[in-house]
Amino acid sequence: MIEVRQLVKRFGGSTVLRGIDLDVPEGAICGFIGPNGAGKTTTMRILATLDLPTSGSVRIGGLDVVRNAAGVRRRLGYMPDYYGSYAHLTVDEYLDFFARAHKIDPSVRSRRVRHIVDFTEVGPLLDRAVEALSKGEKQRLSLARALLGEPQLLILDEPAAGLDPRARVELRELLKVLAERGTTIFISSHILSELAGVVSWVIVIDRGRIRYAGPPEMAGRKGNTATCIVAISSDEQHARKFLLSQPCVVGLTGEGGRLVVELDEASQPLEDLVAGLVSAGVRVREFYQRAADLEEVFMSATSRNSDAPLS
Ligand SMILES: Nc1ncnc2c1ncn2[C@@H]1O[C@H](COP(=O)(O)OP(=O)(O)O)[C@@H](O)[C@H]1O
Ligand SMILES: [Mg+2]
Repeated sequence: MIEVRQLVKRFGGSTVLRGIDLDVPEGAICGFIGPNGAGKTTTMRILATLDLPTSGSVRIGGLDVVRNAAGVRRRLGYMPDYYGSYAHLTVDEYLDFFARAHKIDPSVRSRRVRHIVDFTEVGPLLDRAVEALSKGEKQRLSLARALLGEPQLLILDEPAAGLDPRARVELRELLKVLAERGTTIFISSHILSELAGVVSWVIVIDRGRIRYAGPPEMAGRKGNTATCIVAISSDEQHARKFLLSQPCVVGLTGEGGRLVVELDEASQPLEDLVAGLVSAGVRVREFYQRAADLEEVFMSATSRNSDAPLS
């Protein structure tokens, strides 16, 4: 759905995007993760046709964002990271205004708005002034606005920032439902835990370069290396000695009966290692592969960035 090739963006003398490549498959919920100033908003604004690339190409659903901006706009909904000022408008008027701006046919307009109002649960807010809404209410309204054009792609720039935990859970649920209906979602955050459990694909950006792209559970692996947790209730020194004698063990840390083992799966199946431990007399309480969490992906991806000096 999103295809970005060698995208460069300069503002005056500073290069903010340094030749990035991105692919987001159709139907994915893709997390776009990076620290403040990494280039997330800049990238998203270019995707949403609100700013132009300095060089490189960007396609949304096969359409070029520069040559076919109008076609791209019809396919996407964008929720910016700021909230404009709409003094005096009620929620009802606000949605009606944007529904008209989307040139939604009058015969279907009110039905579509009602449907989105129900979905985002802004119904009870319709008579309220937009400016008097809470942060969570504003985010729901902003999502409702982004959905008015029935987009195939939803671009959400830090939608969970500043939300309380309950509003965050509600937002996740809405996103999951949208993804089930086939909407591709590209969602940014600088706080990784916000997106854990909801994203099916992760792209990490730092200082204008992509540092990782792939499924979240693969992110912690380097080649064929996996990390396993082995909890034991027998002598730890004995277990350590055994593990270090095994061909697949490439690293060993941990203590207190809980060993963290780095394994090269190519040289020995995990099943053999478990069987070997047991027959060596080690009493194994737990043996599981640790899924890399997003925080780790982020840390490992953004720590090897010394090749990217800031301009
Ligand atoms: N219009 C602009 N003019 C000059 N610099 C900008 C402009 N927009 C963004 N930048 C700079 O680009 C960098 C990336 O910003 P941004 O894309 O907003 O990062 P993020 O959204 O990841 O926090 C920052 O250093 C920011 O100061
Ligand atoms: Mg931003």
